[in-house]
Amino acid sequence: MRHYLMVRPAYFDVEYSINPWMDPGKPTDTELAIAQWEWLRDLYIELGHRVELLDPEPGLPDMVYAANGATVVNGRALVARFHHRFRRQESAAYLNWFTGHDYREVRQARWHNEGEGDFLVAGSRILAGSGFRTDSRAHQETAEFFGVPVVGLTLTDPRYYHLDTALTVLDEDTIMYFPEAFTEESRRRLEQLYPDAVIASAADAAAFGLNAVSDGRHVVLPQAATGLITRLRERGFEPIGADLSELLKGGGSVKCCTLELRS
Ligand code: ARG
Repeated sequence: MRHYLMVRPAYFDVEYSINPWMDPGKPTDTELAIAQWEWLRDLYIELGHRVELLDPEPGLPDMVYAANGATVVNGRALVARFHHRFRRQESAAYLNWFTGHDYREVRQARWHNEGEGDFLVAGSRILAGSGFRTDSRAHQETAEFFGVPVVGLTLTDPRYYHLDTALTVLDEDTIMYFPEAFTEESRRRLEQLYPDAVIASAADAAAFGLNAVSDGRHVVLPQAATGLITRLRERGFEPIGADLSELLKGGGSVKCCTLELRS
C-alpha cells in the first residue's frame, strides 16, 4: 500500500505560462479537470492505496500539482521553495499540512526546490533534477536532510522542465526515462546506474508518458503513451492508461498530481 497526498483542482486554470505546455489563451474546463482528477483518486483507492487531501486555495491554480509541494521520506518532509513567484504561496499550505500531521521533522527548503517534481526516491537513493526549477545546491541540502545519497541529473529540454516529466521510478531498481531530456553526462550516469532501464521514445515522452506513478506493480500513466504501455507489459508491470487531458494544459499529468508520503 502506498500513501499519497493530492489537491482537488477546484481552482484549476491556466492563467500564466511558466512551462512550454501552458497557453493562457487556450480555454480550460475546470469541471472536466475535477472529473479527471477524481478518476485518478478513485483508481488509487481501488488499487488499495491511501489518499489524503490538502485543501486547494483560490488564486493558486497550479496547486493540483501536489508532487511539487514537498519531498517526504522516512516521516520527514522537506517543503518546496518554488522557482516562479506564481507558485511561491503554495509552500505555506504544505508547511501547515505537514506540521499538523505528525511528521518527525518539517522544514522548508533553503534553495529552490520543487519537491517530487525534481526529487524521485529510487530505492536507497534519490534521483534529483536541476536545470530549470530546482537549484543544484538543493541536491546537497536534500541529501543532508534525509541522510540519503542524492544523484544529481541535469535537464536540458524546456518541455521536460521537471525530472518527473522525463523519468519514472518503476521499482527499487528499475526506471524508465527519455535520454534526450538530459545532458550527455547525466545520460552516462543513468546508463551506468540503470543498464536495464526502459527507454522512452520521443513520442511517448511528448505524450507525458514519463509523468507516471508506479506502486512497483501497477504503473498509472497517460493513455497516449502507447509505446511505453507495451514495453511495461513486456517487463511484467501492469500499465493503466489515464486521461488527464485538462491537467496536461498546465504541463502536468499523473505524477504531478501525486505526492508520495513515506513514513
Ligand atoms: N504548471 C505547473 C508548473 O509549471 C505544472 C507542474 C507539474 N508538476 C510536475 N510535477 N512536473 O509548475
